[in-house]
Amino acid sequence: MLGSDGMLEDMASRLISPALIGRRAQLADLETAFAAVRRGEPATVLLGGEAGVGKSRLTAEFAGHVRAEGGRVLTGGCLELGAEGLPFAPFTAVLRELVREVGTPGVTELLGGRAGEAARLLPDLGVTEPEPGEPAGNGADVYPGEGRGRLFEQMLTLLEQLSERSPVVLVIEDLHWADRSTRDLVFFLVSNQRAVPGVLIIGTFRSDELHRTHPVRPLLAELSRLPWVQRAEVPRLTRGETGELLAAIAGQQQDPARVDSVFARSEGNPLFVEELLCCDDMLPESLRDLVLIRAQRLPEATQNALRVASAAGERAGHALLSAVSRLGDDDVERALRPAVEANVLVADADGYAFRHALIREAMYEDLLPGERGRVHARYAEAIAADPSLAAGRAAIQLAHHWYAAHDLGNALASAWQAAAEANRVFAYSEQLAMLAKVSELWDKVPDAAQRIGTSHDRVLEKAGRVAHLLHEDEPSRAFTSAALREIDPKADPGRAASLLELRGKLRPETQDAVADLREALSLVADGQHERERASILASLATRLTKSNATTEARAAALQALELAEQTRDLATQASALSTLAAVGHVDGPGISDMEMDMLARARSLAIQAGDHHLVLNASISESHLLEGLGEHERAAQVARDGIAEAARYGLARTEGAFLAINVAEPLYALGRWDEAVEVIERALNLSAPPRTRACLQVLAGAIAMARGELAKADGLLSSAVQLFSGLRGRAYSHVEDQLVADQLRLELFTAQGRHQEALALAQDSVHRHDLQASPRYGWPLLVAAARAVAEITVTPAAARADGLADAAGELLGALDAEAGKLRPEGPVQQAYQLSYTAEVLRARHAPAEAPSGLAEQAAAWEQAAAAWEQAREPYPQAAALFRAAEAALASGGAKDAAATWLHRAAEISGDLGARPLVGAVALLARRAGIRTDSAAAQYVAPGGLTPRELDVLRLIAAGMSNARIASELFISPKTASVHVSNIMSKLGAASRGEAAATAHKLRLLDPP
Ligand SMILES: Nc1ncnc2c1ncn2[C@@H]1O[C@H](COP(=O)(O)OP(=O)(O)O)[C@@H](O)[C@H]1O
Ligand SMILES: [Mg+2]
Repeated sequence: MLGSDGMLEDMASRLISPALIGRRAQLADLETAFAAVRRGEPATVLLGGEAGVGKSRLTAEFAGHVRAEGGRVLTGGCLELGAEGLPFAPFTAVLRELVREVGTPGVTELLGGRAGEAARLLPDLGVTEPEPGEPAGNGADVYPGEGRGRLFEQMLTLLEQLSERSPVVLVIEDLHWADRSTRDLVFFLVSNQRAVPGVLIIGTFRSDELHRTHPVRPLLAELSRLPWVQRAEVPRLTRGETGELLAAIAGQQQDPARVDSVFARSEGNPLFVEELLCCDDMLPESLRDLVLIRAQRLPEATQNALRVASAAGERAGHALLSAVSRLGDDDVERALRPAVEANVLVADADGYAFRHALIREAMYEDLLPGERGRVHARYAEAIAADPSLAAGRAAIQLAHHWYAAHDLGNALASAWQAAAEANRVFAYSEQLAMLAKVSELWDKVPDAAQRIGTSHDRVLEKAGRVAHLLHEDEPSRAFTSAALREIDPKADPGRAASLLELRGKLRPETQDAVADLREALSLVADGQHERERASILASLATRLTKSNATTEARAAALQALELAEQTRDLATQASALSTLAAVGHVDGPGISDMEMDMLARARSLAIQAGDHHLVLNASISESHLLEGLGEHERAAQVARDGIAEAARYGLARTEGAFLAINVAEPLYALGRWDEAVEVIERALNLSAPPRTRACLQVLAGAIAMARGELAKADGLLSSAVQLFSGLRGRAYSHVEDQLVADQLRLELFTAQGRHQEALALAQDSVHRHDLQASPRYGWPLLVAAARAVAEITVTPAAARADGLADAAGELLGALDAEAGKLRPEGPVQQAYQLSYTAEVLRARHAPAEAPSGLAEQAAAWEQAAAAWEQAREPYPQAAALFRAAEAALASGGAKDAAATWLHRAAEISGDLGARPLVGAVALLARRAGIRTDSAAAQYVAPGGLTPRELDVLRLIAAGMSNARIASELFISPKTASVHVSNIMSKLGAASRGEAAATAHKLRLLDPP
């Protein structure tokens, strides 16, 4: 609680070092981060260290520097309270500090003119009290989440406003105690830090307490992945520093023997040093006993009061303490004064805090078990009698104290109240924890239902819904199933149906899901539950679309829409319309105005219904449909707008990150690869859910692949596959995911000359998947498979290899059968179909065959190139132009046309930075004696390499073996291997991979 400089000075007289000892490196780190922030860059420092090592002291010292330079420091600490912390405690503290400084109107202004949701954290800002009677938050409707998003946004606004006046440092202390809501908000603020330049965030935590499953670990890990987040460790003091600290406290040098002895016993932990200096003559058995020594020298009455205070938590108000100890204010003060003087407690305006949490913990442990329960009971009674004593969160504190007092009846009742209180501050995980506690205590409290005025199945249902809100599918399903077991569907069919609907939505297997939904429908067929029926039908339609049961899905959606219009259920109308738009376009070419209309209506209904998930779902559907039809720009724009919207709702990590896929996909198609990579990286920085991350990685892998960065592509793909399959054992949750992953793997195999594996994968993938269910991702897979075969045909060594040609021929047959069944929909799929046809011609062309076959091939590729140009996809366009030129030149005719195609291919691939294609084009041009005066032709050999060696290097970089290089360049394998070793020695590379890496680093493969 080292809040201000004044307090520090105060302490100096009481056996605490007035000066900060050591810590130059850590201070420098903080100063550097602060300087970055003042330049407008984001920066966060996570300070770890054991208890008592000096994290708070270091931060306080740094805060002093910041204030001296005109900056503002806001500090809030996480509080330990039972197993879960106190929701949002550090932010409540920050708001309180600000109110003290600039007054309520000042803070309101900083929040954007309205106290809004922030008032829920600090009622002083003007919160509306909940309705009397049943706690509002535990009623039928769960707050759908946007309030929480608004709260998060408001905190961002607050920081932004403050930082416009002066640089700001936000210190969140003791993250190891952070409750989940606090963790979420911290994550939100740090990951959005780019939006608030001028704010440095510092988080401190006890690194020695982070056991393997500690909930704060994943937060720290996720934060550390952000490029502007830095971790720093606060180590123990050295022997020399320990001597300095002793001297500083005592006011004079200490003799070396004493320094040795203190250093040996304290191990350089400053808190223990202080304690030892105070009570040097005693020899504690353990470090924990050590922190008690100071207290044990205090009068008995003071010690008693301290033990009582220790049960309150980090800080206890005067009034609460006097109520609990049943003493007058003056008596409390009298009892505690010696503790303040001895620096065990720190007093502030209206209460006390222990100087260090370890001292509090030691005092608390000093309470006898029976005594502990009694003290907690006294706290509970005092707060129950006067909730204002608890400074805001009465119910949550009551629940904690009753539970610790082993009064299960009261613990259950207050946990129920606390769940409602948590709901009011959008702390849904704490709400869920409290509901779980109610359920857990239920059987031990005979009159539980009377105490809270509701039944056990209602508690379970509520818990299931809250868990759903939190995207915690497993617990949600478990609570919902438990509730379903307790209710009688005949007595309450509407409720049973709605629970079945919820469970159905959560089930991963379509079959189970549809079974639940159908059962739900059968329960509400009586005409009395039309609202429920509409909603269930809409859920069923959504689920059926995902399994491509289009006709059924449409029928269900239409029915849902009609019913929902009658019952005026806007959200259900929106959901049904989205589904109808999605299934509608399957029928015709292109997306019609009618479907766009439906989506627009769905969106505005969702907005009216206030359901942000639905609003963003509309953006996801719309951008997905547009991209599928080749409307790249529009698709990207819709998805981009969606991302901005998601950020406003506090849904950047979930829906927002998913929308990034729908931005990156069209950007990739348009050849705007740098932008696509930016979008992908930004989304990956948000630590999105696994499937979203995997999809983003596949896209990034495809771009790396096109740029010739095979190792990178390989790494990204492997990581994505792990994420995909990690989701549900081995099976992917979406067929499309498997198709795109297979396609990229195929391309990698082909580029690496791993023909055997390419064939096996293609065969397997085409067999296993119903491509007709997803033509959009089926076509690219077919093209990649045909290319794999073509590469075998044109590589003599591969074509001669045992059994390869036969297998290739067989695969080609299978591919043709699939392609025959697959209808190309929209310009992009049409272009894929043309590429497929051309690729098959290439694959079927025997080298001995007449040039006529080659001319046909050239024509097919030219057609494909034209289709790609129309689809506005430059990369496949350039590749098709290259193939057209290649075939034309091999046929011995049409050199002029070939030259034109090559020029264009060189230009496009150079612009894209598609290095392997640039190289192939340049090589072909040189062989054919065509001068391409664009990027690729000026490909002169730098790095002391001959032009030929550069050709070889390019192939090495593409992952080819000597044999493959030999056949590619029409040279003998022996010559190829001589080239390779010359190149390696010129580049000083130890391996082929290293040679490739060096080449990239030296930009040898770059177009000039
Ligand atoms: N570098 C230091 N120089 C002087 N005193 C220190 C130093 N580090 C810590 N202390 C003192 O040690 C005690 C514990 O430090 P504190 O910052 O509260 O630890 P932490 O926050 O890491 O648990 C405090 O009384 C503090 O004043
Ligand atoms: Mg601390």
